[in-house]
Amino acid sequence: MPVGAFFSEILLNGEQMDKIIIEGGRSLKGEVKISGSKNAALPILVSSLLADGWNTYNNVPDLKDIQSIKLLLTGLGARIEEDGSSVRIDAGGLCNPEAPYELVRKMRASILVLGPLVARLKKARVSLPGGCSIGARPINLHLKGLARLGASIELKHGYVEAFADRLTGNEIYFDIITVTGTENLMMAAVLADGITVLRNAACEPEVVALADVLIKMGADIQGAGTSVITIKGVPSLHPASISIIPDRIETGTFMVAAALTGGDIKLLNCEPDHMQTIIHKLRLTNADIKVNNKNIHIIGSNEISSIDIKTMPYPGFPTDMQAQFMVLMSIAKGLSIISETIFENRFIHVSELKRMGADITISGNAAMVKGVPLLSGAPVIASDLRASASLILAGLVARGKTEVNRVYHLDRGYEAIEKKFVKIGAAIKRVRE
Ligand code: EPU
Repeated sequence: MPVGAFFSEILLNGEQMDKIIIEGGRSLKGEVKISGSKNAALPILVSSLLADGWNTYNNVPDLKDIQSIKLLLTGLGARIEEDGSSVRIDAGGLCNPEAPYELVRKMRASILVLGPLVARLKKARVSLPGGCSIGARPINLHLKGLARLGASIELKHGYVEAFADRLTGNEIYFDIITVTGTENLMMAAVLADGITVLRNAACEPEVVALADVLIKMGADIQGAGTSVITIKGVPSLHPASISIIPDRIETGTFMVAAALTGGDIKLLNCEPDHMQTIIHKLRLTNADIKVNNKNIHIIGSNEISSIDIKTMPYPGFPTDMQAQFMVLMSIAKGLSIISETIFENRFIHVSELKRMGADITISGNAAMVKGVPLLSGAPVIASDLRASASLILAGLVARGKTEVNRVYHLDRGYEAIEKKFVKIGAAIKRVRE
């Protein structure tokens, strides 16, 4: 998307034009407390629609996307109470089956209400999310799966309209592994008649976290975390209380920050089990990493080695860490090939990194990154959430001043990111315009 179109989109959304200014070149040292996972919290908050009564969720991150989902749930009739990172939701008043365009276009994960709405209200009218900057991101597999459970589905005026007097369990095979698709159908199937088997299901920790909360609510689910999930429908669910798992992408982003700046960072309240691939890859770049219970201690090396990465569904290398690793490879010794296999357009950060002095060539879905001795600060513009994070990382290691524009993407998925970086010694500030 051309830069002009980016800006008109911002104005269209009425988003604030904050920017982040970084004076690069400092080595980062100290402790960072990792927040709750955005991508676990979103489906879990939505799962409140499946039962009447007050559900309690702790460790919910304070993010724009979380505000968006709360707004959507309230619009559907749920009541919400908040106290710091604790959120209580009662969907006893669930009455409205419609997720409007204005909310869905701001956050694609809004599609997660489709399965629960059909399961509870027998009908749903949810705006089609459309594409976003990283790819077309169709939802055909969500719809195909829901149809297999007996819903009749029509696409009208940009909306999905789905109806089912009763959902009935069935075998569902995903042609492509889809995270929110697996979550949506798991939530639809828990209240269906009979048994649903999801094959080639996503194994991401966020899927397991959702299954855990559904099981606490009384659902019968087996196999979450493997590629075959079996769900035996139950007549009703009851509310539950759960703590949101730590954000593995936030954890990985701070790990890369340490590796990149020759830093010494201790990450607290994280889940090392979910970080095994990232830990393995960072060790290959020469980072020194020690794991102790729920903490990860990482010390960056003076000489970063190049490695190749290929994004894959979990437990493969996460696409949500690709942009951050590319920054690390930009100043590594040697050549790195980074292949993006999940989203077709997730290299938009490359042109901005090149403006900061990185030597990157794209060929199809692969980027060839030749390490350079240093990056230089520049004004840059971010195209999506993880690209924004990568530009912040690039600014932290670059010589001179970097100005990251279009920061609202960052606020969708990183809680108080600049405050966390200031605490470990970064010269970074937010400027409100
Ligand atoms: N796909 C289809 N049809 C579908 C669904 C997906 O073709 O019906 C394709 C997608 O186009 C993509 C692939 O399947 O090529 C995988 O997409 P997936 O459905 O897994 O992505 P998602 O569920 O929309 C979640 C995360 C993303 C993360 C991806 C991949 C949430 C709310 N979002 O998206 O997170 O990149 O899985 O791991 O869980 C982010 O946090 O920045 C972010 C983009």
